[in-house]
Amino acid sequence: MNLTQNDVAAQLLAECMPDPVATFEAFAPVNIALCKYWGKRNATLNLPVNDSLSVALAGKGSTTRLTRLPNAGGDEVFLNGTAVDAGSRFHKKVVAHIDLFRATVPGFLRVETRNDVATGAGLASSASGFAALTRALSGLYGLQLDDEQLSILARLGSGSACRSIYNGFVRWHKGVRGDGMDSFARPLPESWPELRLGLLTLTGEAKKTGSREGMQRTVDSAILYGSWPEQARRDIARLEHAIVQRDFTLLGSTAEQNAMAMHATMLASWPPLLYWQPESVQALQKVWQLREDGVQVYATMDAGPNVKLLFERASAGDVYAAFPELELIIPFE
Ligand code: DP6
Repeated sequence: MNLTQNDVAAQLLAECMPDPVATFEAFAPVNIALCKYWGKRNATLNLPVNDSLSVALAGKGSTTRLTRLPNAGGDEVFLNGTAVDAGSRFHKKVVAHIDLFRATVPGFLRVETRNDVATGAGLASSASGFAALTRALSGLYGLQLDDEQLSILARLGSGSACRSIYNGFVRWHKGVRGDGMDSFARPLPESWPELRLGLLTLTGEAKKTGSREGMQRTVDSAILYGSWPEQARRDIARLEHAIVQRDFTLLGSTAEQNAMAMHATMLASWPPLLYWQPESVQALQKVWQLREDGVQVYATMDAGPNVKLLFERASAGDVYAAFPELELIIPFE
């Protein structure tokens, strides 16, 4: 049986007793995967092939305010203060997500979203966006959903959004069920106050091939993808060990190798998929040189040209000297 997103939402919301308010605002953080989500076992429900593990960027993400519009004929969507065209992909995706809840609570909404990061620049604004929208819908309608239910609903909007329900380190359990009711994220209890992330925004331009299309092409055409689930399994175990032991070298090296392995599967796709720009390669080479010079810094990249750095507080001075344009994030502030 091929379940639709509406089937899943209806099942989750069946027990809820809505108690709507007029307006509600919610925030969700951006997350950066240290072990990537790449490939789906069910594209309709965004069910992944592998578990993934991320860290949230505390204080950086999406803030979404929802207001009920009793007399409107449609939803109004604003992004960073500007009205979004009703024919655009962004508008359609937002409306489709609200539709999952509309069967339970009818009526149109004004959606006002502010992103702290460039939309579509590989900094996962769709993850924080769908997580904030899901949280805001639950709050607006007074649905009293728990975090695992919110994580499942956010996943329907975008897979990686299921991790943006939480702060800190988060693991998305892929689950085995056909309806995906066991495919949600959970936070890890550990924190790492010394951990630092550096964002290098090399280009803020929207990418040509989104991650959704990119991962599908990889699954469909790259023989190399066959080794990916094993890579992810090994890396998740190493990352969890590194987090418990506070072993930064193990954390950084595992995250960087995982990202490189994911990009290798993309290059092995047909037509080949390469998100890197010359600036990305330059940044990676600088990271590798810094390590040769004894600075503990590692890199990760998602489906875009931008590079994210991982280091600890003690190395911040050296990393800044090499990358003065870096935007510093303290995930466990
Ligand atoms: C490379 O969550 O954007 O950032 O589920 O199709 O919306 P959809 O994909 P999406 O993919 C994110 C891919 C990634 C790796 C990651 O964040 O784990």
